[in-house]
Amino acid sequence: MNKGITLDKLIVEFDIGLRTLFAKPHSLRPHPDVGIDEANLDDGEKKLVAALMRVNHTGEVCAQALYSGQALTANQPSIATALKQAAQEETEHLAWCEMRIQELGGHASILNPLFYASAFTLGVVAGALGDQWNLGFLAETEKQVEAHLANHLPQLPEADIKTREIIKQMQIDEAKHAEQAEEYGAAELPALAKLLMRNVSKLMTTAAYHI
Ligand SMILES: [Fe+2]
Ligand SMILES: [Fe+2]
Repeated sequence: MNKGITLDKLIVEFDIGLRTLFAKPHSLRPHPDVGIDEANLDDGEKKLVAALMRVNHTGEVCAQALYSGQALTANQPSIATALKQAAQEETEHLAWCEMRIQELGGHASILNPLFYASAFTLGVVAGALGDQWNLGFLAETEKQVEAHLANHLPQLPEADIKTREIIKQMQIDEAKHAEQAEEYGAAELPALAKLLMRNVSKLMTTAAYHI
């Protein structure tokens, strides 16, 4: 059983936070757009795609924070381990988004430290509610992220296959994370909680799109 929040665990999670915000993330898998030629995008298109990828990047920063917070308070060690494995894939998403933003001449959101702190707190609270709800929160988050990514695809310029491939692979991974959470016994969240999550994510999305 979980022995509560220890100093060791806190240090580990604090380190994850610092690395998410300030270190360059690495992807074990090849980037999904590797080998695909850069499309001839005009400045407006580049700006649009960079803004969409900035939103996705912030989403991944939040995913890291949520997983990290949840792992801190998850009761069963097996769930904490599963959370860490999924978080590894979120680190890869972070790396893919970051590189694509750079290629497009954009920048990550300056609000990321604030988003990280908020999502981490939410993760700690979700974890403290018990594994069933912790996983339920995670499954719903992943489903909402997947829907959000699906919404980005039609907004991309037709020629931008690189960004499209990145988003498509992220969608596949997020759907898998949701399924895994359900396999571990996620509870279905009340409709009101889902609505609240959608509204919070809309606020985050709007802020990250602009800054
Ligand atoms: Fe992700
Ligand atoms: Fe995910």
